[in-house]
Amino acid sequence: MDVLFSRDKKEQPEPVKARVTGKIPTWLQGILLRNGPGMHTVGETRYNHWFDGLALLHSFTIRDGEVYYRSKYLRSDTYNANIEANRIVVSEFGTMAYPDPCKNIFSKAFSYLSHTIPEFTDNCLINIMKCGEDFYATTETNYFRKINPQTLETLEKVDYRKYVAVNLATAHPHYDAAGNVLNIGTAIVDKGKTKYVLFKIPATVPEDRMKGKSPLKRTEVLCSIASRSLLSPSYYHSFGITENYIVFLEQPFNMDILKMATAYIRGTSWASCLAFHKEEKNAEVGSNLIKLASTTARALKENDDQVYCQPEMLYEGVELPRINYAHNGKRYRYVFAAKVEWSPIPTKILKYDILTKSSLQWEEDDCWLAEPLFVPTPGAEDEDDGIILSVVISSDPQKPPFLLILDAKSFTEQARAYVDVEVHLDLHGLFIPDTDFDSGKQAPSQEVQDSASDCHVVSETRRA
Ligand SMILES: [Fe+2]
Repeated sequence: MDVLFSRDKKEQPEPVKARVTGKIPTWLQGILLRNGPGMHTVGETRYNHWFDGLALLHSFTIRDGEVYYRSKYLRSDTYNANIEANRIVVSEFGTMAYPDPCKNIFSKAFSYLSHTIPEFTDNCLINIMKCGEDFYATTETNYFRKINPQTLETLEKVDYRKYVAVNLATAHPHYDAAGNVLNIGTAIVDKGKTKYVLFKIPATVPEDRMKGKSPLKRTEVLCSIASRSLLSPSYYHSFGITENYIVFLEQPFNMDILKMATAYIRGTSWASCLAFHKEEKNAEVGSNLIKLASTTARALKENDDQVYCQPEMLYEGVELPRINYAHNGKRYRYVFAAKVEWSPIPTKILKYDILTKSSLQWEEDDCWLAEPLFVPTPGAEDEDDGIILSVVISSDPQKPPFLLILDAKSFTEQARAYVDVEVHLDLHGLFIPDTDFDSGKQAPSQEVQDSASDCHVVSETRRA
């Protein structure tokens, strides 16, 4: 089992045709583009944490009922330096690396000794961001990498600090109705202050595009929020938006900046510089700001104007949740997520109805499933009118990996596309409809001849 997680995967840069069973909806045309760790050892060295692995991009191109798969390692500076040295020379979240002092290229690393903020990795393995017409691989440092979503080629390295003063930013930006990117980052000890900075990158500006100018140049700070602590800002993986507000939770899971600054000398990883600080607090009972009848979660406004939140546990063991993004920031009813039976293996995907607290599940023996991604049917009226895409790998070596396509309403299988090459367990991604590309169709058309395959749908109702 461990092998599926930690084995280094071969890239497959040339597209391979998948064997399709079932019927792919004719309207489904585009590229499912995903990201995740694919290489866990370099030479004799091994990463300590699964989140440290080198980014392996992969894609399923779906056109006229046919599916083509390809994968390619992100040629980050981190990847190139590691491969050149034949060992891990750039530190990641759970692995502190010690570069070869003889090589000038690594001299930057020694600035760790004299700078509070370390030089971070550009191994962007977490997510894909759409910014105007461009696509980027993202992680949680100040770096992100432009990529070609069709060939998976790595393009330029981008440093957020050129456009907005942040040392870290989430890998999970939001998009408003106009396609502008909204994100949040942390400025560490900047002019004597540590703050969270909310910023907006506009969708393509036509006159800029004519001149070949990136929308990044028009990045705009929306607001900044002072951290409660100069040297222990909160770690956050994402944030929320509504139609009128951005919701940021300064949770008591903190980064210890002094520990981070000395981690290199102390020989510990940055992961060890994160700690949960439980705050014992007697909440004054105030008015409940949550007015939804369908939840027992409460947000009590206290006398000191702070809000004390009490969650409602809807479902245990849920990871990688997605919704119909057209409902982001608005009232929504359905959550699609991976279900982890025993950590950290997702063996099911589920559709959860937060109104009725009921769920539908899809599972199959020996199958491990990726984040389920919702794609709406063109002209959809219902929130769940669309399909779910998930990548499935099997712990049974006889069973090839496949792209799973479910009807999002009934959670029944529509089709699957088997590929005869290695596929890795990934993290996040997005679907790019062909209409988002200037250049339209690229793959030949062919009738789908195979019949639908077996699937297992389990209906389940439970109370949270
Ligand atoms: Fe994530």
